[in-house]
Amino acid sequence: MLVKGRSRRRATAAMALAAAVVVTAAGCARENAGVDPAKDSGIVHVVCGATEDWCAATTKKFTESTGVKADFVRLSSGEALARIKAGKGNAEFDVWYGGPADGYAAANTDGMLDAYVSPNAAVIPDKYKDPAGSWTGVYVGALGFCSNGKLLAEKGLEVPKSWADLLNPKLNREIGIAHPSTSGTAYTALWTQVQLAGGDQGKALEYMRKLHPNVLQYTKSGSAPGQMTARGEVTVGIIFSHDCVATMEEGFPDLKVSFPSEGTGYETGGVALVKGAKNPTSAKKFIDWALTTEAQEIGPTVKSYQFPTNPNAKVSDKVVKLSELTMVQYDAVAAGTAKSALNKRFDAEVAQAPKS
Ligand code: F6P
Repeated sequence: MLVKGRSRRRATAAMALAAAVVVTAAGCARENAGVDPAKDSGIVHVVCGATEDWCAATTKKFTESTGVKADFVRLSSGEALARIKAGKGNAEFDVWYGGPADGYAAANTDGMLDAYVSPNAAVIPDKYKDPAGSWTGVYVGALGFCSNGKLLAEKGLEVPKSWADLLNPKLNREIGIAHPSTSGTAYTALWTQVQLAGGDQGKALEYMRKLHPNVLQYTKSGSAPGQMTARGEVTVGIIFSHDCVATMEEGFPDLKVSFPSEGTGYETGGVALVKGAKNPTSAKKFIDWALTTEAQEIGPTVKSYQFPTNPNAKVSDKVVKLSELTMVQYDAVAAGTAKSALNKRFDAEVAQAPKS
């Protein structure tokens, strides 16, 4: 009996092994579909500008859905652009995913992207993509103010409702915003001022200089001032409104989201193929997949409430209603073309970029 039992166990183990081999082989077959191993290792290296959690959930789901491996490094927009440029001729990344499209437009101007018009881009509205395919939008987010209600009350202040409100001397060293050289969020704020000033960059910088005494710190990452506000280090953070909602959900429900009456800026978060990508087939598969409803419905599962660009994707009721906001005209290509020179002026005329 014992011998029989053993042999049955062996037979069962052998069957399990055979099954495992089949599963692995099936996995490999799927993984290698359409991939020439000489030209693509079946893995996509992503430089990711969304939240760490979203980047992780997205790359994981992509692998589950397509069989193509993926890894990522989370970097703020300006840092991603700098790393992509540093990899010129020996690309470190295959795909750039997330972060405002003006960064992508700037990268494209510098010859750092390869055009790819995904077949799945057909469904994405024209206003959220570059027609030549240098980048395609995957989400939209609106810039807003994130306030600590308790600190506002202590100062006898209402929730700020305009850019002008932020210049109140009672907010001296009470505002957090990132630096536009490193952060796409902060560059969106700066370009919003350019638009509100009718395109006059000098006037935009003048506003930022007036705001400067009220800024406690220019952070590297755009969402960091949300946490500073939650912890009571500052009274108001200038951040994307969805990052304030995420911070509320992380245990700070008393934060208050508001929007400037003069008009606010918005981002189209992009996805693009990096020039000279070492895994171009896998990279294109990632871009195709990033435009699907499956990919665009991941955000809310990790507290990221941007508006999806795929019109068929479900929209969480926590996503801000863009149509109810006063928005400035936001041309990502114009913003991207101006980015490098305008940031240099910001460094020289308002504040230096934070050191590493
Ligand atoms: O935290 C998510 C997010 O706000 C994205 O919506 C946006 O594209 C990105 O961060 C901008 O990050 P940063 O300002 O750090 O470049």
